[in-house]
Amino acid sequence: MAPVKEITDLLHRTFFRSLSLLSSRGQGAVLRRYFDWWHRRPDPWHMGTDAYEQAKYAATLAQLPGLPYRRILEVGCSEGVFTEQLVTAYPEAHVTGLDISERALARAAERVAKAAGRTLLLPADILLFSSEHRYDLVFCSETLYYLGRRDRLRQASARLTGLLAPGGVLVLVHPWPEARRLHRFIDSGRAVTRVSELVEREAHRPFAVSVYQAPSAPAPTG
Ligand SMILES: C[S@@+](CC[C@H](N)C(=O)[O-])C[C@H]1O[C@@H](n2cnc3c(N)ncnc32)[C@H](O)[C@@H]1O
Repeated sequence: MAPVKEITDLLHRTFFRSLSLLSSRGQGAVLRRYFDWWHRRPDPWHMGTDAYEQAKYAATLAQLPGLPYRRILEVGCSEGVFTEQLVTAYPEAHVTGLDISERALARAAERVAKAAGRTLLLPADILLFSSEHRYDLVFCSETLYYLGRRDRLRQASARLTGLLAPGGVLVLVHPWPEARRLHRFIDSGRAVTRVSELVEREAHRPFAVSVYQAPSAPAPTG
């Protein structure tokens, strides 16, 4: 990694770790304002046009176990570039996109308008989010490094695994080798088992796609 990139990443992580010294609610309030500001211009990370991002999405979709996913959740969906791909890849599924930025979700709504009847866009903070639903497939990509200190990472990890239906699949996508730190509470917990991991070391920004599965419901007894 080039030294300039290393320094930028260090400053980035330090900034978000400082925010995580606030209460969960305080942190969420600042993140909401920050990401609304960050989305002041469309597609701030060029997710819709960048070849690297598109290749990462393709690698992520290719890594999924071939299961009949009915209810899908994408956490940190931003403007819905990947959400739209999920809607297309799983025409039978209901797809929920969750993001802390309402401005991002307003643009996501335009992207998935063609499937409005089976999509839902939720403004929410993953640190506090809970749902009456359980999901067959949960994604969280390029988001966990915004949560800062380890307690917040642990909190978010518990939220993510708690959203899975029995047998549900969780997919985390983050830069490598930082993914080892970001995924560690999921890796070391008992809620899910890692079923595969793709590490794309040759990419100019290496990344990992880690796939986990929750246990299936126990067979009824008696
Ligand atoms: C870099 S974008 C990733 C977009 C998408 N997941 C992808 O990989 O193409 C990160 C997104 O996470 C959202 N985000 C950051 N902290 C969040 C939180 N605590 N709860 C929910 N969303 C959050 C931001 O608003 C932003 O849209």
